[in-house]
Amino acid sequence: MNYKLIPSLFMAIAATFIFHACNQQPPEPAQGEWIRGSEAEKTAMIEGQFRGFDMAMVETDYRYSELYWAGEDENWNYAVYQAEKIQVAIENGLQRRPLRAPSAENFMTIALPAMQAAAESGDRQLFDESFQALTKQCNMCHALEDVAFFTVKSPMERRSSIRF
Ligand code: HEC
Repeated sequence: MNYKLIPSLFMAIAATFIFHACNQQPPEPAQGEWIRGSEAEKTAMIEGQFRGFDMAMVETDYRYSELYWAGEDENWNYAVYQAEKIQVAIENGLQRRPLRAPSAENFMTIALPAMQAAAESGDRQLFDESFQALTKQCNMCHALEDVAFFTVKSPMERRSSIRF
């Protein structure tokens, strides 16, 4: 073996590896049944399926109604649960539509925490007052967002099968 050849042999092997590494195509994006296309196209489709603010509001409205009946039933654990889920629904909505966040500030930082505390206290009168204050802030945000025609009032009928 000619030992002088070892460095060049090593270089040749290294070059072959580097050549193959550089030549590799990026992996094809995985394709689903209907979420298909490039990574960017797929991300846009997934974002579209998550919707904007409307579905956050449909969820919030259901939970607002359940919160009301939880108060009527004095089912405080259920009231605490629904008040927490309203927070999650709106936070997720604002993550999707951050431009709406300033209009929601009073709701998120004052009215909703007060509502949560009232539900936790189990004090019926405090709960009722907080619910009215919360309702005002729903409508305040709707006014600020130019959708004042969504006028929120205490619900008249139960929507779910949850009773106490
Ligand atoms: C960002 C401030 C904001 C807050 C706080 C807010 N809303 Fe809304 N709400 C909106 C906006 C904006 C829309 C219209 C959404 C759209 O056009 O995609 C809306 C729409 C709605 C709708 C109609 C949804 C539909 O598509 O059918 C209901 C119902 C609703 N809100 C209920 C509530 C209730 C109940 C509360 C309080 C517990 C509340 N909202 C708090 C901004 C807010």
